[in-house]
Amino acid sequence: MTHTTRVTPRSRTYLMCSPEYFAVEYAINPWMNPDEPVDVDRAIDQWRRLRDVFTGLGHTVHTIAPVPGLPDMVFAANGATVIDGKVLGARFRYPERQPEAAAYLRWLREHGYGRDGALVRESVAVNEGEGDIAFAGRAILVGHGFRTAEAVTPDLADLFGLPVISLQLVDPRFYHLDTALTVLTDDVAAYYPAAFDDASRATLAGYFTELIEAKDEDAEVLGLNAVSDGRHVVLPEQATGLTAQLADAGFSPIGVDLSELLKAGGGPKCCTLELR
Ligand code: ARG
Repeated sequence: MTHTTRVTPRSRTYLMCSPEYFAVEYAINPWMNPDEPVDVDRAIDQWRRLRDVFTGLGHTVHTIAPVPGLPDMVFAANGATVIDGKVLGARFRYPERQPEAAAYLRWLREHGYGRDGALVRESVAVNEGEGDIAFAGRAILVGHGFRTAEAVTPDLADLFGLPVISLQLVDPRFYHLDTALTVLTDDVAAYYPAAFDDASRATLAGYFTELIEAKDEDAEVLGLNAVSDGRHVVLPEQATGLTAQLADAGFSPIGVDLSELLKAGGGPKCCTLELR
């Protein structure tokens, strides 16, 4: 199936955090092995290439200063959820990452969010930002099972004024929604069916008009941890099958290598918080 027209790419604004202090010092997901060495210089090079891909596509990239002692802070997607200028702060499940929430909120406040005091909300419920919360145009999708608590639903619905669709993640390798599903346009997503329970698969089939199903080998290199601007889809270059599927579906895939960050269970989307 070949589509000649996709949604026009819309320029985006992203927040990223350099992996200067990146390390795998603890294991909070099955990808992390503190005994396996990481090459920080290589991680920085790979991260810079990702940033340059975004700016090359015409997107704006802001950066937040990394904090020593917070080795996962490079995964900016987890730092907050920002839709329509409103912010829901993150609350991390594991103590190792909990201080990141305040750092991201501080950056957002310093950059004008919540200047009137009303639109930045801290969360009582555990939620790991865009790691588990995906804006899909007419609704917000939330992944549960490993990190984000169900209790975040009323906060999301109330703050952003959109319906909230809960999805159950069932495979610990795909511990955040953004490792198992990527929203490509308001109507099209790619996902890994085996990462969800039956009810969630049915929900997704009802919501999206087109669903691209990733194969095991592409999901297993975190190929779904992708960033779409409506046409260009930045994804791990190792996900060759998914790259071909996206091209067949009329998107312009762009592969990047984030092999060092994959050692922490991260990919391009994890490094990217969209400021809407
Ligand atoms: N090591 C990090 C963790 O387990 C990786 C986070 C990846 N971020 C994401 N948005 N999936 O929390």
